[in-house]
Amino acid sequence: MASAPRMVPSAVPPPPELAEFCSDVVLGLSQPGQKELPSKYLYDNVGSALFEVISHLPEYGLTRADERLLRRHADEIVDRLTGPVAVAELGSGSGKKTRWLLEAFCRRQRTSYYPVEISHSALVMCERELRDIDRISIVGFEREYLDGLLEVAAYRKSGQRLFVLFLGSTIGNFDRPAGVKFLAEVRRILQPGDGLLLGTDLEKPSTQLLAAYDDELGVTAAFNLNLLSRVNRDLGADFDLRQFTHLAKINYKARSVEMHLQSKRRQIVSIPAAEIAVEFREGETIWTESSHKYSADEMTETARNSGFRCEAQWIDEQWPFAENLLIAE
Ligand SMILES: C[S@@+](CC[C@H](N)C(=O)[O-])C[C@H]1O[C@@H](n2cnc3c(N)ncnc32)[C@H](O)[C@@H]1O
Repeated sequence: MASAPRMVPSAVPPPPELAEFCSDVVLGLSQPGQKELPSKYLYDNVGSALFEVISHLPEYGLTRADERLLRRHADEIVDRLTGPVAVAELGSGSGKKTRWLLEAFCRRQRTSYYPVEISHSALVMCERELRDIDRISIVGFEREYLDGLLEVAAYRKSGQRLFVLFLGSTIGNFDRPAGVKFLAEVRRILQPGDGLLLGTDLEKPSTQLLAAYDDELGVTAAFNLNLLSRVNRDLGADFDLRQFTHLAKINYKARSVEMHLQSKRRQIVSIPAAEIAVEFREGETIWTESSHKYSADEMTETARNSGFRCEAQWIDEQWPFAENLLIAE
């Protein structure tokens, strides 16, 4: 078993904007069992650019399925939300596929769109991607999901309905109980009659899932390894990226695909800003992301347990994926 991280005195404390990253790294790499790093740190400028490439890979059918559904059903989705509507999107990424919905709203009325993103470069990409839509106003929030949504809710005009988008099956990054808790927190910020469009990737054969998270070109591997480069860049660590490999594996019990970074040999990595040195055994992994997969019919109960009702669902047959329209009760 790898020993607990050693404290190493540091002459360079992290700047305030990196303090949370630093403490999350210490916490995640000091776990007595499975080491982990929160998946939100995968998305710095490089990570967001790599994710954009992943969404074009032949193995990763998820984004194309999401986009097909939005393109085909945009008018129908928009028609179900009558009256004045403001649109918020949690973790918008580049916002490319959101265009279909926003164009449908803007054909009906002048529309405010509020992307909420932790990644600065994704937010810039999103604003650039969508600003040419006629009759749109875009105000981005570089915030965590719920902090951003709280600010958006404060912008709501009287009589205006809020429509929240959580696309790309990003909900799958939470385990099931945490997902329901997160949706309930979203619901608490909303008012009855507000909408939530939730994209969920559906269960599929394990070979197809493993290929989606471990593509032949190695883009997903680079996306995952970039997290270690980020710790090197921001916290002055000395991770040798060649001594770690990307690993995707299925967790059958959790019904998820997990991404890990596996140490090729016994090694010690020092992270000066965090004042620790971390030992890795050969074969030991850092768990960096989970993507939970769903059945189409579990959404009714998930919605009910978080204060919504599932009003409608659209499924892509080519790459099983569901777009679920939830309405706040
Ligand atoms: C899986 S990507 C999906 C992007 C886009 N919605 C799509 O469907 O292609 C997740 C996005 O959420 C953002 N994100 C991750 N954690 C976040 C958090 N805690 N708060 C706000 N944004 C977050 C990431 O920067 C990333 O752009």
